[in-house]
Amino acid sequence: MNTKYLLGISVALAICAMTACGGGGEAPSGPPGTSGQAPAADVGAVKSAANMITAADITLGDIDKDMAAKGQATYDVKCQACHSTGPNRVVGPGWKGVTERRKPEWIMNMMLNIDVMLETDPDAQAQLEACLVRMPNQGLSKDEGREVLEFMRTL
Ligand code: HEC
Repeated sequence: MNTKYLLGISVALAICAMTACGGGGEAPSGPPGTSGQAPAADVGAVKSAANMITAADITLGDIDKDMAAKGQATYDVKCQACHSTGPNRVVGPGWKGVTERRKPEWIMNMMLNIDVMLETDPDAQAQLEACLVRMPNQGLSKDEGREVLEFMRTL
């Protein structure tokens, strides 16, 4: 009975810890002095979700030509086999207008977290149904993905 009680406490603390992290965003003022109390939460289960890109991770300004050029170089090597820069599908959808159809964070997650997207996102799943091929993870870094996004904005 004692152990059960303790287990309940630590689960509750773990949930508190996760909630505290999740809601933070970029709030400039510090938390009200509760940090350091909770034991380390087991975050293994949410690892893939934690790597997902959110709107707060992306800032879009005027198109950065150097970045777009780097993105195009990545496209030439790693994406061109399956994606055109026009409207037509090759293996995957054509990229023309993709930044108008999709949110930037959605695009970034298709580039960086395709497996999670195909498991959980209805729009990604609809594309899979239309294309009949699972896009393989291309192993891009976050910076490389951001450069490809910049290139997409020029299309
Ligand atoms: C082997 C073929 C293949 C390669 C290589 C590939 N993709 Fe894809 N991609 C697909 C397919 C197929 C889809 C549709 C979703 C699915 O079926 O998995 C897709 C979907 C996408 C989408 C969503 C587009 C939309 O209009 O909804 C983006 C963004 C994307 N890929 C980015 C990339 C990037 C960036 C690269 C290169 C770094 C890349 N892909 C390389 C096959 C590929």
